[in-house]
Amino acid sequence: MEQLDPVTGEPVAIAYEDVHKAFGSHKVLCGLNLLIPAGKITAIIGRSGTGKSVTLKHVMGLLRPDKGRIYLGEEDLTAMSDKKLRHVRNRFGVVFQHAALFDSMNVYNNIAFPLFEHTRMRKPEIDAKVAKLLAQVGLSGTEQKIPSELSGGMRKRVGLARALVRDPEFILYDEPTTGLDPILAAAMDELMVETQASRPGITSVVISHDMHAVLHIADKVAFIVDGLLYAEGTAEFFRDHTDPLIHQFVTGSLDGPMKV
Ligand SMILES: Nc1ncnc2c1ncn2[C@@H]1O[C@H](COP(=O)(O)OP(=O)(O)OP(=O)(O)O)[C@@H](O)[C@H]1O
Ligand SMILES: [Mg+2]
Repeated sequence: MEQLDPVTGEPVAIAYEDVHKAFGSHKVLCGLNLLIPAGKITAIIGRSGTGKSVTLKHVMGLLRPDKGRIYLGEEDLTAMSDKKLRHVRNRFGVVFQHAALFDSMNVYNNIAFPLFEHTRMRKPEIDAKVAKLLAQVGLSGTEQKIPSELSGGMRKRVGLARALVRDPEFILYDEPTTGLDPILAAAMDELMVETQASRPGITSVVISHDMHAVLHIADKVAFIVDGLLYAEGTAEFFRDHTDPLIHQFVTGSLDGPMKV
């Protein structure tokens, strides 16, 4: 039977069940249970080093859990061969924290690269697709620029265009606004919302430290503490919550149970 996400009421797209992951003696995920609803924006929040990026790497098949299961729809990722996992990875678009563009390639090639690599699309089709994506991220006409000629915000937008180039079912953003000035960060937030709205059915997961943005854009927020899901709910739930840990994190206060 199809499982529904308790926060949004939507079908579950990704499910982590009792996921454990340690690096040597360092336990990072300690029995994480987390549901990601289909067709919505879910934000994962938590302190630095709590395992947010590690959580995303598991669903992309870049890391395997020591124990527990991860489901993508009905499929159990933890039971898959490396070869099958590579196929699964094609269903994801990822926007990395540092944009991770190829410095020696121009914008056009950075975006078109996965199409040349993995599809039989012809050059005119690819040109049109790149132009359309660049228009969507507000960078029309920048095809010939190289990454070093772009600002940090522009690079992130090129990263988003590249993440979308193969029409992924899932889009994962790892700190998409870190390092951007407040205006560019707000523009990136807007772009994430637009991307979600213009691609019905796409499932977005955002890791962010920007609580203001999280509470503005997320349909669901999941708060990870010590490798476990501490709380999940809507933005309103988090905004108004009186739990000391949640309140401290959401308001970014030095006073509270979490110490620096
Ligand atoms: N490949 C790895 N080998 C060893 N340790 C790792 C590896 N990947 C992550 N870790 C450790 O796991 C912990 C969680 O890392 P992770 O990158 O998921 O944190 P995060 O919540 O994303 O933090 P931040 O908000 O700073 O990005 C960290 O202590 C990190 O050092
Ligand atoms: Mg991280």
